[in-house]
Amino acid sequence: MRTLIIFYSLEGNTRFIANVINEELQGDIIELKPKKKIPSKGFRKFLWGGKQVLFNEKPEIEDIKVDFAKYDLIVFGTPVWASNFAPVFNTFFQKYNIRDKKIALFCCHGGGGEGKTFIKFKEQLKENIFLGETLFQDPLKKDKENNALSAKKWINEIKNDN
Ligand SMILES: Cc1cc2nc3c(=O)[nH]c(=O)nc-3n(C[C@H](O)[C@H](O)[C@H](O)COP(=O)(O)O)c2cc1C
Repeated sequence: MRTLIIFYSLEGNTRFIANVINEELQGDIIELKPKKKIPSKGFRKFLWGGKQVLFNEKPEIEDIKVDFAKYDLIVFGTPVWASNFAPVFNTFFQKYNIRDKKIALFCCHGGGGEGKTFIKFKEQLKENIFLGETLFQDPLKKDKENNALSAKKWINEIKNDN
């Protein structure tokens, strides 16, 4: 199965899990990067990021070169922002129409759970087949090793069942 991981990460948690998953999948991996840097420290990040979610903003992202036709499975990973996916995915979904793929979703949250994150992904990815979804609580801060293990277990089950 040819696989692609597409993720965004402000503080490294989602990047950590995305890399762990890709060690298992040995596929391609793309990090979405906003052109304008968001403050990643202190309280300002919540104001900045929260505002972007609230107003459904589409921050400009750096160009990505990808031929989606090459892949069978696409894994999306995002931090939970105001109970949603990070706004860079608004931009991504406006640009790209993903269809007829197998999809797996994961998110990293700070203790509030996934909120509407998976529902919102599914709204944008209607014409695809969903294989699974999972969440991790600040894996870099809390029990890094166990989070890595459960990420591996999760993706291997998806890979082996399909
Ligand atoms: C703007 C912003 C909004 C957030 N909103 C939520 C939230 O609604 N629920 C939650 O559990 N965590 C929330 N968090 C915490 C992050 O989801 C969490 O720390 C995550 O692990 C960060 O992933 P990252 O390191 O890949 O950026 C928020 C963080 C930021 C910066």
